[in-house]
Amino acid sequence: MVLYSKKGNIKGMKEKISIPLVQKLVAYSRKDPVRFHMPGHKGGKGLPRRLKALMEKNLFRWDVTEIPGMDNWHSPEGAIEKAQRLLSQLYGADHSFFLVNGSTSGVMAMLGAALERGSKVLLPRDSHKSALMGIILAGAKPVYLKPEVDLELGVATGVPLDEWKKALDLNPDAKAVFVTNPTYQGFCPPASEIAREAEARGIIVLVDEAHGAHLVFSKKLPSSAGKFEIDAWVQSPHKMLCSLTQTAWLHVKGGKLKLDKIRSYLSLLTSTSPSYILMASLDITRAVMEKIGKQWVEKGLELAERARKMINEKTPFYCVGRELKGRGGISDVDLSRLMINVSSAGYTGFFIEKVLRSKFKIYAEYADYSNVYFLLTGGNTWSDVAKLVSALKRFPARKNKLKPVIFPCDIPVCAMDPAEAYFSPGEKVKLEDAVDRIVKDALIPYPPGVPLLYPGEIIEKQHIEAILEIQSKGGYCQGIKNGFVTVVKNG
Ligand SMILES: Cc1ncc(COP(=O)(O)O)c(C=O)c1O
Repeated sequence: MVLYSKKGNIKGMKEKISIPLVQKLVAYSRKDPVRFHMPGHKGGKGLPRRLKALMEKNLFRWDVTEIPGMDNWHSPEGAIEKAQRLLSQLYGADHSFFLVNGSTSGVMAMLGAALERGSKVLLPRDSHKSALMGIILAGAKPVYLKPEVDLELGVATGVPLDEWKKALDLNPDAKAVFVTNPTYQGFCPPASEIAREAEARGIIVLVDEAHGAHLVFSKKLPSSAGKFEIDAWVQSPHKMLCSLTQTAWLHVKGGKLKLDKIRSYLSLLTSTSPSYILMASLDITRAVMEKIGKQWVEKGLELAERARKMINEKTPFYCVGRELKGRGGISDVDLSRLMINVSSAGYTGFFIEKVLRSKFKIYAEYADYSNVYFLLTGGNTWSDVAKLVSALKRFPARKNKLKPVIFPCDIPVCAMDPAEAYFSPGEKVKLEDAVDRIVKDALIPYPPGVPLLYPGEIIEKQHIEAILEIQSKGGYCQGIKNGFVTVVKNG
């Protein structure tokens, strides 16, 4: 049933109403796009039909609040508590929390619960920005670990185990370590060894597994960190499973983290009217995965493996695979996502992503300077893969490979803790005039997506040169707007 005319008017209504976002969504879904982006349900495909119909039919009927009998997310004792218990049984946790504000809120809450003002946390510099926000909120002291960067692929690969051990030895007073498993690229760190080393020193282990809610369902995938000696882990089932966008869950085990403290942080970061639709989607996803999790996950993996083989054989591009295991901090690779390196065939990832979208209606998850990324789940089909391979075959190899962008990777000088810089008065200055100033917001150039400077760190000439070079090659830098950067006000 078409409810809206092409202009976005509601059919049957005389007066024009303006619904620009809805117009965009209508236009997008009418295209019948090939969805390789999140959420993992891919427009609801692949879900058991009766469950999908149940959600669709009841959207408005289930949109309730904390009416009597419906339990209360902020202090659950009834249905929400029971649903969370079923979830923790599935994932092997002692306690699980439904989240309606993404893994972002879970990462911040577990950091907040583990850390006190001034306590040290070890984490790779390319951790998700929610980790930085959690550190700012807690007023903690980050000790950054430098990830290795693969100069051919133009991305950070990870922090080798030796570097983790060195950092743990140098910081015996650290309160927690923060690990990401897997990264956006699907690279898994040596999480079990890091966890063992940290736990042996009495240090809390927190894992951002936003991209790994599917890992527990197949032995063909890298292990979920939940299997190791860790204290808490956060997952976004909307990424690789089938829940609605913005849903996530947080698992806790052992007694090092206090549940009350986590709950208090989550309450701080979440609406007082959490959506029952989102919570219902989490409950359904847990139930679906209990029944067909293996099937769902292995379908996505099999499609990705077939796509990888065909892309490597029949197109000029390189789709990375298990050969990356063991390189620069990578202990395993999640092969249910495709990371396609296009710079080796002379293209930027930005260009390929745009052409696939505009000419072939194929939507990638993300592109950087050198690569394009595609997520495959049980919601994708063989036809999706065939369309992707056929489109990629249309690009001829170019003579010249693109050179990676050189990036100063040394850890910069830190003048203030992130929280102090973040809450200090700031001013905008031209990037070229910002030498020796303290940044207020993280400056994150893409590529490679690793923060060049975190709040509280000092801008040097080499950082400015690197940003200008990245921009000149078509990349961009988060934290720079119209050539201006926000720094801590002097005096
Ligand atoms: C590594 C990582 N952690 C955390 C998040 C935040 O997840 P969410 O979008 O569910 O808030 C993301 C988002 O993409 C991410 O890539």
